[in-house]
Amino acid sequence: MSTSTRAAVLVESGRPAPYASSRPLEIMPLTLEAPGPGELLVRVRAAGLCHSDLSVIDGSRLRPLPMALGHEAAGEVVEAGQGAEFAPGDHVVLSFVPACGHCPRCVAGRPALCEPGAAANGSGTLLGGGLRFAAADGARPRHHLGVSAFSEYTVVSARSAVKIDPELPFEIAALFGCAVLTGAGAAFYSAGVSPGDGVAVFGLGGVGLAALLAAKAAGAATLVAVDVVGAKLELARRLGATHTVAGGPDAVEAIREITGGGAEKVVDTTGVVPVLEQAYRATARGGTTVTVGLPDPSRELTLPALSLVAEERTLRGSYLGSCVPRRDVPRFVGMYRAGVLPVDALLSHRLTLDEVNEGFDRLHTGEAVRQVIVM
Ligand SMILES: NC(=O)c1ccc[n+]([C@@H]2O[C@H](COP(=O)([O-])OP(=O)(O)OC[C@H]3O[C@@H](n4cnc5c(N)ncnc54)[C@H](O)[C@@H]3O)[C@@H](O)[C@H]2O)c1
Ligand SMILES: [Zn+2]
Ligand SMILES: [Zn+2]
Repeated sequence: MSTSTRAAVLVESGRPAPYASSRPLEIMPLTLEAPGPGELLVRVRAAGLCHSDLSVIDGSRLRPLPMALGHEAAGEVVEAGQGAEFAPGDHVVLSFVPACGHCPRCVAGRPALCEPGAAANGSGTLLGGGLRFAAADGARPRHHLGVSAFSEYTVVSARSAVKIDPELPFEIAALFGCAVLTGAGAAFYSAGVSPGDGVAVFGLGGVGLAALLAAKAAGAATLVAVDVVGAKLELARRLGATHTVAGGPDAVEAIREITGGGAEKVVDTTGVVPVLEQAYRATARGGTTVTVGLPDPSRELTLPALSLVAEERTLRGSYLGSCVPRRDVPRFVGMYRAGVLPVDALLSHRLTLDEVNEGFDRLHTGEAVRQVIVM
């Protein structure tokens, strides 16, 4: 049986801000086909606005359109297709990489790099290859990263879902799907922050602040927060940054001075290539620079190559925080509950589905950290 839903569909990329007037996301009624084998019909209860959605809206990441956007969500299973190991009523967090479980990357324990998952996400289909949304005029909106969170209901591969404790409020649970997995995973796993480390985080949005909280939990002794927005520096200070530095070319020297020659672990979440170059230069000898931000695909990076060898540096990309969602969502939720990863601090605004374009204006101007649509 099909389900009726309302979803925020990106009809055209590259429309100029302010989005409150250009309205790139159209709220439209859609029908959803029933979940196929291994799929779930989920009632979305909360969905976060991430910069990766904004990059699709502004055209710096091209995706097939029209597309029902959103990829950070929590909700409730309504119907489980054949063989999907979930039951109606289960509370789930959705992860933006459906991991097949069988490809060489999945078998190696790196589900964030799942090959069929990446192919499905690139073409805007579910993991099984299908499309489940249909518009009244016959258009078939694509799925964003297998999730399409900005919809009252969605159909996902069960491989996109992680069961969570029903006590966790949906608006907090949603944050774990992208910001927390990505940011905390980048600090714990990709950077491997160790007790006593000097750490710098560039970019203090949902992802960067999650990285900052995780670096603190992992025992960073010096924790430098960098952003171009003053209010974000203040928030970082309240969340445990020992130092704040205004973003810009002088940030490198400031970090090198604070940390006595560079931070052991530096995480860049800006998606701005010159900032990644700054992050590399702010890293200590023997240190690790991790990049999480997703720059425009046309951009290239220039680095002093000798330093990589003679200073034994590591430059590492981090996708989905190098996490294993089924292991790490419950792990990070446990840390939140224990008070060591207070990620509720990321939630800056609650909005309705109809206010989604206004929400992207706030993300674009840097006024918001994590905004969550509560359905
Ligand atoms: N690798 C992954 O798996 C993954 C997952 C989610 C998001 N992302 C990417 O991570 C990035 C961050 O996402 P977000 O939702 O937290 O974005 P955001 O817009 O909320 O945060 C980015 C922050 O960077 C700051 N910034 C911009 N220019 C700067 C500069 N020159 N110096 C210092 N700070 C600067 C902004 O003020 C903002 O606070 C985006 O590029 C997003 O696409 C990657
Ligand atoms: Zn995201
Ligand atoms: Zn796989």
